[in-house]
Amino acid sequence: MKIQSLIQSNLLTDIQIPIIGKFGRFLSQTQKRINLLYGGAGSGKSYSLAQWFIVKCITEQNKSFLITRKTLPSLKLTAYKLFKELLSEYQIKYEENKTDLVIWINSNEVYFKSLDDPEKIKSADFNYVWGEEATELTFDDYKQLNLRARRKTDTLNQLFFTFNPIDSFHWLKTIVIDKLVGIIGILASNYKDNPYLSQDYIDELIALKNQDETYYQIYTKGEWGILKNLIYSNWGVVDYWPENGDSFYGLDFGFNNPSALIELLLYDNEIYIRELLYETHLTNTDLIGKMKVLLPKKSNPIYPDSAEPDRIEEIKREGFNVKPAEKDVHDGIDHVKRYKLHIHRDAINVIKEIQSYKWKEDKDGNIIDDPVKFNDHAMDAIRYAIFTHLKTQLTPTIWRLK
Ligand SMILES: Nc1ncnc2c1ncn2[C@@H]1O[C@H](COP(=O)(O)OP(=O)(O)O)[C@@H](O)[C@H]1O
Ligand SMILES: [Mg+2]
Repeated sequence: MKIQSLIQSNLLTDIQIPIIGKFGRFLSQTQKRINLLYGGAGSGKSYSLAQWFIVKCITEQNKSFLITRKTLPSLKLTAYKLFKELLSEYQIKYEENKTDLVIWINSNEVYFKSLDDPEKIKSADFNYVWGEEATELTFDDYKQLNLRARRKTDTLNQLFFTFNPIDSFHWLKTIVIDKLVGIIGILASNYKDNPYLSQDYIDELIALKNQDETYYQIYTKGEWGILKNLIYSNWGVVDYWPENGDSFYGLDFGFNNPSALIELLLYDNEIYIRELLYETHLTNTDLIGKMKVLLPKKSNPIYPDSAEPDRIEEIKREGFNVKPAEKDVHDGIDHVKRYKLHIHRDAINVIKEIQSYKWKEDKDGNIIDDPVKFNDHAMDAIRYAIFTHLKTQLTPTIWRLK
């Protein structure tokens, strides 16, 4: 396919790294120090950046790379995981320190550090920096990274930021893009640029047009939008889990979309949430296998999507305490809103979903009384669990006095 450009390493001529054409051309040509690669969902931003850093690790010497994201759990589950998967796919030899998250390839070093503790990056200088999901970063984080990308070498030090254009008022737009046009490199992309996407995923992105104009603009077209009419604001991120109380679980089934298994716990009338599983392409057998490991205590209640009775029956036969969820969306959301939600910082997909979970809007900005059905798998699992498990607790007991 023409769209595919092959970049070959100087040293190891048998390694071929096929980067999506649009990204390969931009990355190999840009002479800018700061480069923003923004776009819709699945356009190939993360994959291409990981590939590009690998290409640089093979073709350059004595360079120091930083791959960063706001939090350590999210960094480990995304860019770090992807980078290592690609290294093994391309059979590239490397050494690593798994505790400090450092990888050595030839004479180069690749550091994975998060920005939740900015001290972590203050002590070192880098040649190349990749900030993944950069809308999570503050402007101070950005300035800090900019300071750190100053390692003396023969080549230009560069920074690359990848993200979805989720908010036209974000500093990336108002301070960086709008004020530095011409000085920085910009590459906008969307699903059409990526020949590797499955038709199912493409169909889902195109169908956003009938659901929500803003989502369509941001995630399908890859253009700047403003997410309004968010559904939940009653949440925060925590890094602990209460020791008391019995967990209950929400389960949303998927295959092409992820299956989501979420653990919830009511403590002091507030709800604690963590993510046990969020994974695509699981058959029911796969899912049950994982549940056996994740849920050693089978007696705690699990509330799965009641639309899949066959799958529920299979899980029940394995001895789990499954109770089909009540699915009324509005009442469910109303119930979830009554609690303060403490989401564990490792629950990166829950956090990602809840940040953009919104009511549908039509072309004229009228709110339609239905959530957008996209990136809503953890949201559904949480709603099933809270609504079905806790509804009865809120129903008043009525005493009839004669
Ligand atoms: N060069 C490539 N070769 C094979 N698959 C690719 C390539 N680039 C992207 N993909 C596929 O496209 C999917 C979406 O790409 P990704 O980089 O995650 O998108 P984005 O970060 O823009 O949301 C990836 O999960 C991967 O399956
Ligand atoms: Mg990405």
